Amino acid sequence: MKKIILTLVMSMMPALGLAASAGYPLDSIDLDPSDKASLQRGAALFQNTCSGCHSTKFQRYERVADDLGIPHDLMMDNLVFTDAKIGNLMENSIREQDAKKWFGAAPPDLTMVARVRGADWLYTYLRTFYEDPKRPWGMNNKVFPDVGMPHVLLELQGMQIDTCGKDDDPSSIDPLTGEKMCGLQVDPDRKGSMTPAEYDQAMYDLVNFLGYSAEPMKMERQRIGIYVMLFLLVFFIFAYLLKKEYWRDVH
Ligand code: HEC
Repeated sequence: MKKIILTLVMSMMPALGLAASAGYPLDSIDLDPSDKASLQRGAALFQNTCSGCHSTKFQRYERVADDLGIPHDLMMDNLVFTDAKIGNLMENSIREQDAKKWFGAAPPDLTMVARVRGADWLYTYLRTFYEDPKRPWGMNNKVFPDVGMPHVLLELQGMQIDTCGKDDDPSSIDPLTGEKMCGLQVDPDRKGSMTPAEYDQAMYDLVNFLGYSAEPMKMERQRIGIYVMLFLLVFFIFAYLLKKEYWRDVH
């Protein structure tokens, strides 16, 4: 028994470790796999900005197109940038050795990342890149300190600065409470093409898509689950009647 418990705890360790956020509080979101418009926007953003480095190679273009209601020709024209065919797996074109050299780490496959890291972690990760001159790209990340990935969405979000870092800056003091305001803010001089609210929505869509990618069967599973429950309910009525019938003779 002890062994079983130990094995169970051990098998949960990696998940617990990976879910860690370096102490930074995670913003929580509820994914909605039934929101096809959001999933489509997320897929477009992923293919345009992430798929150059990251594969989602346990998934096929065709399956994604069908699940998300994207016609095959639109998918091929707008969302497939390699010479892949619609039936191919969603691989990337970057070579692992090159990537290791450029970024210090190879970009991992992201098919299952929403289950490994969790939606909240991803949502927070994509929104907490900030300026840090000590890092090679001049950027760091709050939930993944010293991350090797550059902030590829910088143009959309704008450059965030950590207001906590500047002790002598009077603008980082809350005029009402006199306390130091901490947190990330987009530098007014280096704004992105999106407002913070638009950027949050775009990141929600992106994480929604990664959530779908990690479990494409989710909607189907829930639908079948309802039928199974209904079946069990009907079956219970008959089983109960049968039981009554058998026990009539016993009593
Ligand atoms: C220029 C190449 C590049 C692009 C483009 C890129 N990434 Fe990355 N990404 C990386 C590298 C390299 C790592 C590994 C970082 C490390 O381990 O330090 C990484 C790591 C990650 C991780 C952490 C995975 C884990 O569990 O450790 C996530 C999540 C991620 N990227 C999401 C994205 C998303 C979403 C996009 C598109 C908006 C994107 N990346 C675009 C290079 C890239």
